Amino acid sequence: MIEVKSERWDGEPRELYLAPMAGVSELPFRLLARECGADITITEFTSSAAITREVAKSWTRLESHPDENPFIPQIFGGDKDEMILAAQMLDDKADIIDLNFGCPAPKVTRICAGAALMGQPDDLVSMTAKIIDETESPITAKMRLGTGSGQYNALEISQELERVGVQRLCIHGRTLNQRYSGIADWNYIRNIVDSVEIPVIANGDIVDGPSAASCLDTTSASGLMIGRAAIGRPTVFAEIKTQLGWIEEIDLPWVDEDWFDLTSTGKAFASRRWAWDRYLELARETTGLRPKWLKRHAVSFTKGLPGAKTTRQSMHGAATIDAFADTISEFFAQKVDSHSSMS
Ligand SMILES: Cc1cc2nc3c(=O)[nH]c(=O)nc-3n(C[C@H](O)[C@H](O)[C@H](O)COP(=O)(O)O)c2cc1C
Repeated sequence: MIEVKSERWDGEPRELYLAPMAGVSELPFRLLARECGADITITEFTSSAAITREVAKSWTRLESHPDENPFIPQIFGGDKDEMILAAQMLDDKADIIDLNFGCPAPKVTRICAGAALMGQPDDLVSMTAKIIDETESPITAKMRLGTGSGQYNALEISQELERVGVQRLCIHGRTLNQRYSGIADWNYIRNIVDSVEIPVIANGDIVDGPSAASCLDTTSASGLMIGRAAIGRPTVFAEIKTQLGWIEEIDLPWVDEDWFDLTSTGKAFASRRWAWDRYLELARETTGLRPKWLKRHAVSFTKGLPGAKTTRQSMHGAATIDAFADTISEFFAQKVDSHSSMS
């Protein structure tokens, strides 16, 4: 557990980012996260090799919509020329291109991409410098504290990346070796914030208003990035903003006249019902309902809610993807009605 230093942050509101998450943050989910209070969204990472070879599946990860502004595709790769070419291929379409130096997955680190590049800082910096030279889009980077072998080196790398022209950094406060274990080190992120002029976004273990306040207190970061806490709960962005007094609860799209009569479980159902139904609308308007995404989100949206297990069992019997989507909508609707403190 993170030690929560303060429940409030008295400074100016900061931007909240939806973390790039493979298998989670596809276009309709990113659009939903924005409507739920995320200020900035980034695509899940896409392989530069797949982009340059025009692999269709990878290009679907790079779909966007005019409402996603700025559009920030994230790319990874271990081959400098491929990374440059991939960035050039995205240049017209992207508002900003984000480079992934944080992924710990073996299939990525094996090709010396993602967080493994932090073990070869000169290559990481020269690759980035070249991408900046060869593209028009602003370039940002997301990384970890280091590989975990030896000292952290994110601070030195950050200074070098600033020198070659990177415009914003996001630091996940763990090493490559830690993957997702242990606690994010916000103190080290603070050292980076203090040693560069460009904006630094803090990431790792921010899950609610108190942890957001504590992270801002510790890091003084320009913004916060939220990943796992937004899976199945994209409303976390608005929850943080209301808890920190940046926005009013009454202005949230899922808050209606019945909201204040709901129990806390009723509120969890009501906000997720709104989010689920809105996800369906956004998906239908953009990419269409894609079974793989829908099934994954259905599991995470219902996770931890009473009665979810039975619904998950029944949704597997749904004949069509629309029927599947409706089963989840009905589950939320029924439960909202039964958790009103007035009922
Ligand atoms: C399912 C999943 C997929 C992820 N995919 C990516 C990715 O594509 N690119 C990336 O930079 N980080 C990726 N990450 C890391 C997150 O962006 C984030 O740095 C990490 O989860 C820590 O933040 P959190 O504590 O708020 O979850 C992924 C994390 C998860 C849980």
